Amino acid sequence: MIQFEVEADRLLFDDAMRFARSQIKKLIESHPDFYPMYTQGGKWKHEGPVWTHWCDGFLGGMMWLFHRHLGDKHPDARYWKKQAIRYSKPLEPRKFDRDVHDLGFIFMPTYHPWHRVTGEEALKDVLIQAGQTMALRFRERGQYLRSFVADDSLFIDIMANVGIIFYAARETGDRKLREAATRHALTTRRVLVRGDGSTAHEGIFDLETGEFLRQSTHQGYRGDSCWSRGLAWAIHGFTTCYEYSRDPRFIETAEACADYYITHTPADGIPPWDYNAPPESRRQVDTSAAAITAAGMLRLSRLLADPVKGHFYWSTAVHILRSLCEMYLAKDDPSWEGILKGGVYHIHKNLGVNESVMWGDYFFIEALEHVLRP
Ligand code: GLY
Repeated sequence: MIQFEVEADRLLFDDAMRFARSQIKKLIESHPDFYPMYTQGGKWKHEGPVWTHWCDGFLGGMMWLFHRHLGDKHPDARYWKKQAIRYSKPLEPRKFDRDVHDLGFIFMPTYHPWHRVTGEEALKDVLIQAGQTMALRFRERGQYLRSFVADDSLFIDIMANVGIIFYAARETGDRKLREAATRHALTTRRVLVRGDGSTAHEGIFDLETGEFLRQSTHQGYRGDSCWSRGLAWAIHGFTTCYEYSRDPRFIETAEACADYYITHTPADGIPPWDYNAPPESRRQVDTSAAAITAAGMLRLSRLLADPVKGHFYWSTAVHILRSLCEMYLAKDDPSWEGILKGGVYHIHKNLGVNESVMWGDYFFIEALEHVLRP
């Protein structure tokens, strides 16, 4: 077990977990069966547009993480399990959803822990179907899973979803599924991850020939910039690919992206929303990128053969979590409904800028649960 260097960290993180549980409890009591995406002025319920429908797994996912963190014997464990099932169950029809590239985000935080807790086969079938549906996005010409915006588009975000195809391949023994996931990850590595470990948001392909044409973006500053959340998806996603495949190219890529994060992020460990945005704009951080990175680095740290490097990523993740807890936890603002402040959804569309975002809160809890695990 990797020990905490300072017991104060454990207290800080335990306290953050308690705060997170109380925020989620208040949310589900005030807005039952509502699946939020980002806050407006700190409030979850509003009429702001969503752009795409990708976040519904994160609320139930947090509840499964609370359940795992507390353990079965804790007096609140039954409550969180019941709520987690309540918020996971309605997602099942989305296993056939072909409109989004986000089925990993919807099902891995929900049906995966649900299956682990209960062992019910039907839950595994849902995960397998979702993985099979995701794989239908694969384009032979170009060798990638198409993004939700168009056939010629590949998003870095898909790296954080491709794990569900690896899962379905493993559980069914279907080699074609495994091939699709592997090829997608290799194409992403080739066209979106640059030599310095930075990442582009989107790749555009020629539909006729499959030729890669250029890097582009929707949520980043420019096609040739490094959008910090995209980088975070790459760190988390390539780590997951390695967990399933043990292909050394994926862990090398995860490390290259993690090292870019470490060498380009300010000393507190919280990145600007885009590393290449103009200085004034770079003052806007994205805490969700920090939370995803911390969660990814914790997993990466356990996979490395070199214990020194493993410890380095582990302590970097702890440092990021410490900064999030000390500077961005919404604890001192009783009117704020989210957990972490300082997230960004879509800066150009002015959606969820400097707000709480569901995925930021989810990956923050994922990282805390991991770091606090006995
Ligand atoms: N759609 C994934 C993201 O905004 O990061």
